[in-house]
Amino acid sequence: MTEPDSLGEWQPDRNLAMELVRATEAAAMRSTPWIGRGDKLAADGAAVDAMRRFLSTVNMRGTVVIGEGEKDDAPWLYNGEVVGNGEGAECDVAVDPIDGTRLTAEGRPGALSVIAVADRGSMYDPSAVFYMDKLVCGPIGVGVVDIRRPIGENIRALARAKRVDVSDIRVAVLDRPRHEQLISEIRAAGAGTRLLMDGDVAGGVNAARWDSNIDLCVGIGGTPEGIITACAVKALGGVIQGRLWPKDDEERQRALDAGHDLDRVLEANDLVASDNCYFVATGITDAEFVDGVKRNGPFVRAESIVMRAHSGTIRHVTSDMDPNRWS
Ligand code: FBP
Repeated sequence: MTEPDSLGEWQPDRNLAMELVRATEAAAMRSTPWIGRGDKLAADGAAVDAMRRFLSTVNMRGTVVIGEGEKDDAPWLYNGEVVGNGEGAECDVAVDPIDGTRLTAEGRPGALSVIAVADRGSMYDPSAVFYMDKLVCGPIGVGVVDIRRPIGENIRALARAKRVDVSDIRVAVLDRPRHEQLISEIRAAGAGTRLLMDGDVAGGVNAARWDSNIDLCVGIGGTPEGIITACAVKALGGVIQGRLWPKDDEERQRALDAGHDLDRVLEANDLVASDNCYFVATGITDAEFVDGVKRNGPFVRAESIVMRAHSGTIRHVTSDMDPNRWS
């Protein structure tokens, strides 16, 4: 701890994430009536609208670089949209008003509303390729795991570094046919899988957190989600590596034409070049590190995690809001 009288002229910086959390809370709250109603578009539309309104109050000159793209077909928060109150620093903004729209629509756990922000021009441009092969784990994995190595080797190396048995290692993977082989290799190595129906931002954040039930998150998921996760990993410490994974020949060709090296392993600093970055997530449905939005007497309670990479501060924010006075 720094002694109070040694602080001199030092003044704390502004923490943008403390403003951004209102936007993820708003998105989570507004999507709540759609939990379990089977309508992904309505849930997403409500979240996008609320997030966009609250982002307009945040003190920044933001440009959405990862928005609601082709996949969600959204009219707002599109790439290139200018957000924020037009004051403050220029920023790249990555939004995922709902990571886990299907989880929300089906009333399953693990859906989050997420925003990441970093200095302008510092986020990787993922436009050419939607998917990325990723590996995420906590600080103990630095210099220990590497996406270029077979998964079994990484699991054994991580178990040694953690001084646990391989059977204690839990690996999160999206439950997709494309991961059949990967899942068999994880199990053959003696580790256990935690199959995610959706939501590999939550999977990655859990793998990087020291106090979670996940040790490693691997496999092919969204490139945008990878960049958002990188902001969290920069705050938490740990490893994130990614390699673009074109889904077909056409996408492969587009990526090559855009100058991408498909063998290149992108590290945290390639995904987000600046250390001045923020990650904010609010639970829509219950996730491991935040509960979903709930009624709490006359209030509605939202739980969020707020991270700032520069200082490495992780805050857990619980907000009780009066739905009749909320604005
Ligand atoms: P959305 O909720 O935004 O649709 O994303 C859910 C998600 O599971 C992401 O977390 C993940 O990166 C991506 O979809 C995987 O894509 P796919 O469902 O095509 O395998």
